[in-house]
Amino acid sequence: MKLPSESRTNLNQNLKICRILNGMWQVSGAHGHINKEQAIKSMERHIDHGFITWDLADHYGPAEDYVKILREFMIKQKKEEILKEVRFFTKWVPRPQKITREIVEEAINISRRRMGMDVLDMVQFHWWDYQDKNYLKAIEFLDDLRQEGIIASLGLTNFDTEHVKEFLNMGINVVSNQVQYSLIDRRPETYMADLCEKYGIKLLAYGTLCGGLLTERYLGKAEPNRQQLNTASLYKYKNMIDRWGDWNLFQKMLKTLKNIANKHNVSIANVAVRYILEKPIVVGAIIGVRLGLSEHIKENSRIFSFSLDQEDIQKIETISSKSNDLFQIIGDCGDEYRS
Ligand SMILES: NC(=O)c1ccc[n+]([C@@H]2O[C@H](COP(=O)([O-])OP(=O)(O)OC[C@H]3O[C@@H](n4cnc5c(N)ncnc54)[C@H](OP(=O)(O)O)[C@@H]3O)[C@@H](O)[C@H]2O)c1
Repeated sequence: MKLPSESRTNLNQNLKICRILNGMWQVSGAHGHINKEQAIKSMERHIDHGFITWDLADHYGPAEDYVKILREFMIKQKKEEILKEVRFFTKWVPRPQKITREIVEEAINISRRRMGMDVLDMVQFHWWDYQDKNYLKAIEFLDDLRQEGIIASLGLTNFDTEHVKEFLNMGINVVSNQVQYSLIDRRPETYMADLCEKYGIKLLAYGTLCGGLLTERYLGKAEPNRQQLNTASLYKYKNMIDRWGDWNLFQKMLKTLKNIANKHNVSIANVAVRYILEKPIVVGAIIGVRLGLSEHIKENSRIFSFSLDQEDIQKIETISSKSNDLFQIIGDCGDEYRS
């Protein structure tokens, strides 16, 4: 099954992507044992079905190395034409330190070597501590590398509204900010959305399925305990749900989503992702893939087969209005990484 044309969009003039990106945090080690050969085969299958855009990071275990293996394999198979359409967005997540041009260049060169790419499609920058102003140097050097053609596009991840604005006012050319954005975590709607709209930058949303919690698998089920949350992703988002409300309210959300899903002949996961994709400032949703362990290619293709109507949205908002405001509890986008 190939994806329809609505699955494609331009992040900027030269960057055509699939609006569902394949997330590779799941190969980093805390989401089950990943077999390299099986993982590469699964990457190929995703691409064959039209899921041509990948999200990874320098610290996601072997993710960058898998890109190189996959690319070499596709070239051997004479799939260069398809490969031209495939995009790999990595991240640079440095520890707080004095930043020099050499440090930035070395980090980017390591990613280039590992991925086997002269030009990186996109580097998304993360910073742990706003008190340490070295982030200003880091973004300037990254933007220099972009202008020199070593990085095709520059993105951010987990930056809050104030600091994205700071970069934009410095004239830094960032195309996107990757943040947690889901039916549970709607913090980007408080301030980030307006800023993005004003400056024309886009959001890449992660956590749209809460690691798998926003699916039929948890509908009508007792609250899972720590042992049952057997991936880092499930653990992370169960904590989010606990702050958002409680298991009872979460079950009401799942039930509502199930009714909407039945109406459109899709799944809870499809509705949860579709809701976020329909937000005008969201360019794409990154769905984690446990390569070689589980696959949801066919099912996630259905995200492009329907749209939500006003009645659906209203039902979702009714449940959401009963939850806590995560902006009040945690702060702006990415603040969970800094408290
Ligand atoms: N920038 C950051 O700080 C940051 C943080 C977190 C994540 N991310 C990015 O976002 C990606 C997404 O990861 P996430 O942790 O947020 O997880 P997620 O996408 O919310 O959940 C992924 C899990 O959902 C399940 N799933 C996927 N499609 C499904 C379907 N159609 N039906 C039922 N279940 C389905 C799968 O579980 P099973 O495998 O168990 O079937 C999969 O492992 C990461 O890989 C990473 O690229 C970035």
